Amino acid sequence: MSTLTAIDHIGIAVDELEAAVEHYRRTLGVKPILRERVADQGVEEVLFAAGGSYIQLLGALGPDTPVGRFLASNGPGIHHVAYRVTDIMSTLDQLRREQVRLIDEIPRPGSRNTLIAFVHPKSMGGVLVELVQEG
Ligand code: CO
Repeated sequence: MSTLTAIDHIGIAVDELEAAVEHYRRTLGVKPILRERVADQGVEEVLFAAGGSYIQLLGALGPDTPVGRFLASNGPGIHHVAYRVTDIMSTLDQLRREQVRLIDEIPRPGSRNTLIAFVHPKSMGGVLVELVQEG
C-alpha cells in the first residue's frame, strides 16, 4: 500500500520564466535551487524550496507544447498539484482499480531523480495531478 506523504510541489505556468523567477525572489525571498530544461516536454522549470515541498515555475519552450497550450487557454496560474507517494506503482494500480483515467500508465523519470506520473484532470475534479516518488 502506497502512502501519500506530502504535497511535493505546485506547478505554476508562467509567461516569462526569468521575470517570474525574479518576482518570486524579490517578493517571497526564495532562491531557485534547480533549473531544468525538459526538451521532450517542451518546458523549462525552476524549483524553489518551501519547507519540505517545492514551488515549480513552468515556462513553455514554445506555443505548441502542453504548457504553451495551457497558457494560451487559461493564462498564467496553477497548472498542476503534485503529491509525493511512497510507491508510485501501487498508487497507479489503486487508481486503475478505481477507474481513474491516467495520462501516464507507466511512471517516467522526473527532475530531482524522481519517478513521476500524471493523472487526468477529468478524473480528479478538474485538477491535473502528478504523482512523485523520490529516490
Ligand atoms: Co510537476
